[in-house]
Amino acid sequence: MSLLEVRDLSISFSTSHGLFRAVNGVNLTIERGEIFGLVGETGCGKTVTGLALMGLISSTGRVTASRLSLDGLNLLSTRNWQNVRGRRISMIFQDPAACLNPTFTIGQQLSHVIRYHFHLDSAATHHRAVELLNDVGLSDAAHTLRTYPHQLSGGMQQRVMIALALASGAELLIADEPTTALDVTIQSQILRLLKSLRDKHTLTIILITHDLGVVAHTCDRVAVLYAGSVAETSSTVDLFRNPKHPYTQGLLGAMPRHGTRGKPLLAIEGSLPSGINPSVGCPFAARCPLVMKICRTDNPTLTPTENAHAIACHLY
Ligand SMILES: Nc1ncnc2c1ncn2[C@@H]1O[C@H](COP(=O)(O)OP(=O)(O)OP(=O)(O)O)[C@@H](O)[C@H]1O
Ligand SMILES: [Mg+2]
Repeated sequence: MSLLEVRDLSISFSTSHGLFRAVNGVNLTIERGEIFGLVGETGCGKTVTGLALMGLISSTGRVTASRLSLDGLNLLSTRNWQNVRGRRISMIFQDPAACLNPTFTIGQQLSHVIRYHFHLDSAATHHRAVELLNDVGLSDAAHTLRTYPHQLSGGMQQRVMIALALASGAELLIADEPTTALDVTIQSQILRLLKSLRDKHTLTIILITHDLGVVAHTCDRVAVLYAGSVAETSSTVDLFRNPKHPYTQGLLGAMPRHGTRGKPLLAIEGSLPSGINPSVGCPFAARCPLVMKICRTDNPTLTPTENAHAIACHLY
């Protein structure tokens, strides 16, 4: 059985301009122990998908799905959310500095989460906090526990965020742009850390990113989101070797790579369609260099091809 199954996930928000459809019928299957990349440009619905899996969509939002299950447990029932959110599924949010409480030390914040989930006495809580900080590569744990968030570098704050997410003993970690705010060297350290945590703790990770370079180095499989729908999904190796959807081809063409020196990077003209009164047909039709007549009237469904590769495009 897959660890996480998502079928027909849709998320919409009531706004003063009307109903905004942020995510439309997303299907995802996440296997135990894999790092699954959710990639797409800004506003395509990556974060709200992660929040919906955590049951954290705000009250103006509406989440529907025909199936949402973790290890066979139906997450659509409210009581199950309480047992799962934060406990079995954990999330690292997009901006670590904004998520850590500036008025409490790292030790106080970490202890609070450990005690909430495991009801340990203070010596055992301290021991577990030190263990978690060592796990995320903060070797001077005793000192780090006494510091306030502003005394740590961005990379250290991100490591603390990961420790907080792991403190509940979660088996599924949703990491939302965990490296975007960091410089390149620290970025690769954090990605290596996520990989080693996956190997050491058999963690399953959904890695949300807009950066295909991050996907290439870290993820086993990937789904490319466009305007709240999955445009293409496959193994990472297959996606880079054999991108099929014109949007994926555009994203890869826009990525600087070895051997393309002197050649201009390609840009995908235009911008995401509005989620309010979206037009019929393929959401990428207005920007697609290979658009056909049918694309303007029929929305393609995600269709499997060979090698567990699936594409939502009328060309296939
Ligand atoms: N509470 C809300 N009310 C109305 N619209 C919202 C709300 N939350 C998100 N949205 C909209 O849903 C869409 C998807 O947002 P989301 O934050 O998931 O994008 P994203 O893919 O994570 O982008 P980024 O790469 O910039 O983080 C956006 O257009 C956003 O404005
Ligand atoms: Mg986001």
